[in-house]
Amino acid sequence: MFLTIVPGIGAATGFKATLAEMLPLPKLLLQPLALDWLARTDVRVAVLRLDLTDSELSGNKWCKLSGHLRRAIGTGCQQLISVGGPHSNHLHALAAAGKRFGLQTIGLLRGHAQETPTVRDLLKNGMQLHWLGYAGYRDRYQPGFWPSWLQRYPGSYPVPEGGGGLTGAMGCAPLVKHLASLLSGVGWHDYDGWWLAAGTGSTLAGLVIGERGCHPVFGALAGPASHRIDQQVDRLLAEAGQPANPGSYQLYDACRAGFGRFDDPLLQFMTQTEQASGIPLEPVYTAKALLALRHQVEHGRFAPGSRLVFVHTGGLQGRRTLQCVAGGIAGSSSLHP
Ligand SMILES: Cc1ncc(COP(=O)(O)O)c(C=O)c1O
Repeated sequence: MFLTIVPGIGAATGFKATLAEMLPLPKLLLQPLALDWLARTDVRVAVLRLDLTDSELSGNKWCKLSGHLRRAIGTGCQQLISVGGPHSNHLHALAAAGKRFGLQTIGLLRGHAQETPTVRDLLKNGMQLHWLGYAGYRDRYQPGFWPSWLQRYPGSYPVPEGGGGLTGAMGCAPLVKHLASLLSGVGWHDYDGWWLAAGTGSTLAGLVIGERGCHPVFGALAGPASHRIDQQVDRLLAEAGQPANPGSYQLYDACRAGFGRFDDPLLQFMTQTEQASGIPLEPVYTAKALLALRHQVEHGRFAPGSRLVFVHTGGLQGRRTLQCVAGGIAGSSSLHP
């Protein structure tokens, strides 16, 4: 669909573009992963390198935000408003998207004012920040939260946490078609499932929607079971008119020390995997997801010869903070996004 950018957005700078020009389909790379534990078990993994799609709207953010940006611009909103923590990949991408497409951005942040590499980028990209404290941030689930912020910033487009919701999930569904065109490049004619990190579960839900039951989607939970991501995924699938089928998706524990927390074995695994594969990872989502996959593979979850697509969901901007905190860690440390 071609929509001309609405007057007022970017008009002051003479900026005018179609949405298709603004958000061109990224060229995706599917890369075979050669690691000793995969060779031993004869399980084949290819990495869908969403981390390479765009320097700023990297990973699953391009997919999840594309629909929100289209809707915001299509309905004439000039401001995007959303929530996240001081290391949030989502806010990082949102601020960059706002700057790129001439939209103002407002970030509602967890905790108290602090400077992190992510926060510095948010400010650099012109995001207006409000620090909500911890209790104030928990209120984001209260019915009055969004109405009061929308009263303060009338006409803003509220982007759900993590860029999710059905609009965010639907932006991930086309990945299934993209993958089909990449399989021959790694010598596959088919595959046996997807494996990816799940935070809110929106990316996973999008893949389940795109698959329509053809291949299972396996999600590695970056947070604790108490977050009830299964319920969120089921809700998204129901909203999409595709209620969950048994076997269409499965969730596995990958949380370890807690959401945003990482321990020494995880960091060692991440470093070794990066050295062996040349693929950069980060500890909150992608390294946890891959370590959980190794656990399942080594426990015989996948038969020899299985072919899995591991989605690299990005998040590499968070590594900068890791470099600051990991130097002195012992036991476990935290990078709560
Ligand atoms: C790098 C990265 N990977 C995975 C996820 C999880 O995605 P979702 O919330 O759609 O499950 C996120 C959060 O959006 C993320 O930033």
